[in-house]
Amino acid sequence: MKASAIAPANIALVKYWGKRDEELILPFNGSISVTLDKLFAHTTVEFDERYKEDILILNGKRVEQSSKDYQEYIGNFLRKFRERFGKTPKVKIESVTNFPTGAGLASSAAGFAALATAINEALGLNLDKKELSKLARLGSGSATRSIYGGFVEWLKGERNDGEDSYAIQIAPPEHWKELRMILCITSKEEKKIKSRAGMAQTVRTSPMYKCWLESAEKDLEDVRAGILSKDLELVGKVAEHNCLKMFATMLTTKPPIIYWNETSIRLIHSILEWRDEGIKCYFTMDAGPQVKVICLEKDEEKIKERLKEIEGVEDIIVTSPGDGAKVTEKHLF
Ligand code: PMV
Repeated sequence: MKASAIAPANIALVKYWGKRDEELILPFNGSISVTLDKLFAHTTVEFDERYKEDILILNGKRVEQSSKDYQEYIGNFLRKFRERFGKTPKVKIESVTNFPTGAGLASSAAGFAALATAINEALGLNLDKKELSKLARLGSGSATRSIYGGFVEWLKGERNDGEDSYAIQIAPPEHWKELRMILCITSKEEKKIKSRAGMAQTVRTSPMYKCWLESAEKDLEDVRAGILSKDLELVGKVAEHNCLKMFATMLTTKPPIIYWNETSIRLIHSILEWRDEGIKCYFTMDAGPQVKVICLEKDEEKIKERLKEIEGVEDIIVTSPGDGAKVTEKHLF
């Protein structure tokens, strides 16, 4: 009852922000993302009677069961998993990521997609990708999308039991190989407000939340069409506007949520200036200060050189559309 999996992070072009059901992690709106080819979580699980309690080791450090992080994320996920699939022996989970966690780089997406995939294999559940995406969803909303590679949509669903809220692939990674998502790391510190708490606070207190939902369907339609026709301008413009609308809801919560730092703002201004010069580049951001530049392979080098010159940029990672979660024979313990 031991298995391992590797799962990628993903970055949303049309964002998920706000839950209609916090227990089942059901979103108010659908979302679309690109699965990245360079950021991964690698996870090993072992269910065994010899473990007296569930154990989590994250990037080499034991996460104590008494900690808030454990309870809110893994503890909650394992409880829901067992309610759904029946009692299991205690499990040891070890996970490593090749990028900073809790900093707006979709570590929970990669982590829970890897965990769901490894559990499916270890217990021989034989879940298909649709069911796997629902299982990953119980850990973190964005993880629903990391099961698939390429361009992925998480359908919001209508049902109260969440059975129609899962991910589908819009197109495989080969469909638009030239697309680039350049990640500009502006801080590796863990954010103070996690996306889970941030979105709940937004739904409760932002007067803008209603407006956010009103344009969600149109953004999904445009980005879906833009991906299928490989129209960077359409995808870029809508993704950028969608991100700013999400930030408008965050800024107007009480108390306000401001994930940006000085470097994020500097990057946003630069990207807008470069676009005025004729370089096709667009930005998106998530629940953290990192800026992601959307562009094509042909402009990658030029943009990278310019990004390096910007004060405060700590690291630049160029990513392309990549594959989804998969089982691996390489165990971490
Ligand atoms: O599922 P979470 O808790 O990782 O929330 C993801 C929230 C955003 O990254 C801001 C948007 C998204 O759709 O990935």
